[in-house]
Amino acid sequence: MTILVTGGAGYIGSHTVLTLLQAGHDVVVLDNLSNSSLESLRRTEALADRTVSFIEGDIRDRACLDRLFAQHDIESVIHFAGLKAVGESMQEPLAYFENNVSGSLCLFQAMATAGVHRIVFSSSATVYGEPGTPIFREDMPTGTPTNTYGQTKLMVEQMLQALARADQHWSVALLRYFNPVGAHESGQIGEDPQGIPNNLVPYISQVAVGRLEALSVFGNDYPTRDGTGIRDYIHVMDLAEGHLKAMEALPDRPGVNIWNLGTGTGYSVLEMVAAYEKACGRPIPYKIAPRRAGDIAEFWADPTKAAKELGWKAERGLDAMMVDTWRWQSRNPHGYRKLEKEVA
Ligand code: NAD
Ligand code: WQD
Repeated sequence: MTILVTGGAGYIGSHTVLTLLQAGHDVVVLDNLSNSSLESLRRTEALADRTVSFIEGDIRDRACLDRLFAQHDIESVIHFAGLKAVGESMQEPLAYFENNVSGSLCLFQAMATAGVHRIVFSSSATVYGEPGTPIFREDMPTGTPTNTYGQTKLMVEQMLQALARADQHWSVALLRYFNPVGAHESGQIGEDPQGIPNNLVPYISQVAVGRLEALSVFGNDYPTRDGTGIRDYIHVMDLAEGHLKAMEALPDRPGVNIWNLGTGTGYSVLEMVAAYEKACGRPIPYKIAPRRAGDIAEFWADPTKAAKELGWKAERGLDAMMVDTWRWQSRNPHGYRKLEKEVA
């Protein structure tokens, strides 16, 4: 099977491409490299000892998509491409609607024209909004995302719902990720944020490696066990395996399938700091800062639907998430931009 992976040079994309290659699938990656570099795919190819067809291009470019579908016999699409910085989405909403919503629309139009009707979409737990319970289940109604990024994810979900209602050829997987962290256990590929990281684990990692001075813990007065926010962190390789299972299930599952990809367990910010310290053997300096606008106190996945329907569950625990993150960060202190250098 040839799979088109949009955004396949990025963080989750590169780990998923590796999993697909290792499972024997042929992969075409379309990526405009706006938030990634080709080095991730070179390393992915080396790890899999297989090659990927790479097309540098944009999901908003219809002619490029039509050429791609004409040249490759694509059976399914895994759609990662898009912008994902929550804060930036509030400053530059039109860039988010254009990349995430118009870009997805353009991709779905090209798929329909090419007769490709199987798609796995990178959605997010953010589409649940603030439902008033910390345990998010797929049969709960979607809510109002607190930011423009989340709104674009919900809009694309709604677009795919309408498409599948209108045309029964479509098989759609909406994968709602919780908080992806970690890296491939080789330490060769991992998350490489540009600029100051927005997310917790990349920030802690850069403190550990000496690129940043101290973590700001956004609030310690939440109604949680230690006052800091609780999230369901999931190892990126577990997430990648979830994509493989979802993609392989689609031929037998017409219509829209929604699956949470999370572990079902939440950890607080301070628990994450302690776990990272244990993994890297260094103290992580932190200070308590005000709450961050838009954050909610705590939530985690109910992952039972994916377990029942896909036979998938997250296998890697918190220690593996942190040890693998540290291995990647310590061997690549500047991500893909510098040659590998051990600091430990
Ligand atoms: P990433 O930025 O590392 O990967 C996205 C990739 O898409 C990048 O390689 C980027 O260059 C590419 N891209 C962006 N716009 C494009 C366009 N218009 N055309 C072609 N390529 C384009 O992000 P990631 O963390 O790997 O996330 C992948 C997907 O998962 C995104 O859709 C993101 O919204 C979603 N997601 C991520 C998280 C998370 O915490 N990382 C959580 C939930 C959902
Ligand atoms: C986790 C916890 C923070 C940074 C975001 C998006 C979501 C999805 C995943 C998708 C919270 C605290 C963080 C820091 C801190 N994105 N924190 N200091 O906000 O759960 O989810 O990423 O593409 O849509 O909203 O993840 O890692 O930013 O925060 O104290 O410097 O860590 O307050 O409790 P979040 P996060």
